Amino acid sequence: MTESDLRAAIERELPGVRADLERLVRIPGIAFDGFDHSHVERSAEAVAELLRGCSLDVRIVRSGGQPAVIGTRPAPPGAPTVLLYAHHDVQPVGDRSLWQSDPFEPVERDGRLYGRGAADDKAGVMAHVAALRAFGDRLPVGVVLFIEGEEEFGSDSLERLLEEHRADLAADVMVIADSGNWDIGQPALTTSLRGLVNCFVEVRTGTHAVHSGMFGGAVPDAVTALARLLATLHDDAGDVAVEGLVGRTGATVDYPEDRLRHEAGLLDGVEFIGTGRLTDRIWTKPALAVLGVDAPPTAGAPNAIVPVAKAKLSLRLAPGDDPKRAYAAIVAHLEKHAPWGAQVTVSFEHDGDACEIDASGPMYDAARAAFETAWDGTAPVEMGVGGSIPFIATFQEMFPAAAILVTGVEDPDSRAHGPNESLHLGEFARVCLAEALLLANVAEAGRG
Ligand code: BES
Ligand code: MN
Repeated sequence: MTESDLRAAIERELPGVRADLERLVRIPGIAFDGFDHSHVERSAEAVAELLRGCSLDVRIVRSGGQPAVIGTRPAPPGAPTVLLYAHHDVQPVGDRSLWQSDPFEPVERDGRLYGRGAADDKAGVMAHVAALRAFGDRLPVGVVLFIEGEEEFGSDSLERLLEEHRADLAADVMVIADSGNWDIGQPALTTSLRGLVNCFVEVRTGTHAVHSGMFGGAVPDAVTALARLLATLHDDAGDVAVEGLVGRTGATVDYPEDRLRHEAGLLDGVEFIGTGRLTDRIWTKPALAVLGVDAPPTAGAPNAIVPVAKAKLSLRLAPGDDPKRAYAAIVAHLEKHAPWGAQVTVSFEHDGDACEIDASGPMYDAARAAFETAWDGTAPVEMGVGGSIPFIATFQEMFPAAAILVTGVEDPDSRAHGPNESLHLGEFARVCLAEALLLANVAEAGRG
């Protein structure tokens, strides 16, 4: 199909794609422990139904974790096979009172579609579906759709799942629609992602709570001990102080300070932390954040010395670092810095590998050309991101010869993982067109 055929086809398909995206957003499929996983099942079934509608051979698969969907359609003779990745599970919504509308009832405001997963990553699923629908029965490549069901919860069963279905997943090119673009109107290819280790640290100072007046002054409380321990994780400049982590500089684009302040919603007077270029700090150096704390709530807190407190930590790893080694490093750090002899227990949640992509070669050129056409002459930039997609490194290891194209729908205002997540509908249309053009270009490049 020609470029103008594909433009027309995407235009024709967009209303249906939008309606199906809204249907997906209404399903609260959260893979985290403690959530009702029947919704993840429903979500997998809804995705399977969409893929069947694209004449794929579809199976729902799992390996001890949440269900993924695999859909395949063999390549026409001599044509390459492309694996299209996205995930159908979403992050929890957090404090509902911070949402301007129901997270699971999609609504459009000012050209954006609001709802949990509207961007991350149900729009990724629908970009693949849009491209397939645009081609109808004239798809010029073979495809394998792999739509994961527990990406947001660390992809714990992913390696087993990939091993079990290795034969079905082999591909020459892979398109990961789970990242984003540099800005509205400015496309990007993502060429590095950080790795991650999430863990918990519990601090104990006593066997039970005691009267804070009777014992305070001699007996340490666990919340203060935890605070002191957490304070050792960064140096005064705000760089991560855990020894033995990898960090690198050398980003090729700059992130203007004002832009990052604005996009992050940083309050006036609050400083950035860390040293070096901002792009290095958020893409290729380690970062450590406290995601949550268990301690008595302030409302109704008695005058008692708290004997136990716990924090959840998230350590982002630079490309080139190893999650197992990094976990050992943070455990060693936390144990070594136990304040006042407090008992410190660290436990692991999950991890994922970082990745780096050398975006040279015919498939990357094919992708760049597709983006440039879809964005009416604006060529994509290469960027890193600070987030993680553990699938990529696993797939890279399994199929080292495959070209990996990391695309996506997110823009700086998507607020993925936060309240009021949304999708920019104008950019989404371009992402869908870009993917269709990309498949056409890849077919061409694969033949040549
Ligand atoms: N879509 C994100 C990855 C991403 C983040 C891409 C930021 C571009 C910019 C993905 O769904 C995600 O959030 N992954 C988790 C992975 C973790 C649970 C191992 C993340 O990064 O927190
Ligand atoms: Mn995400």
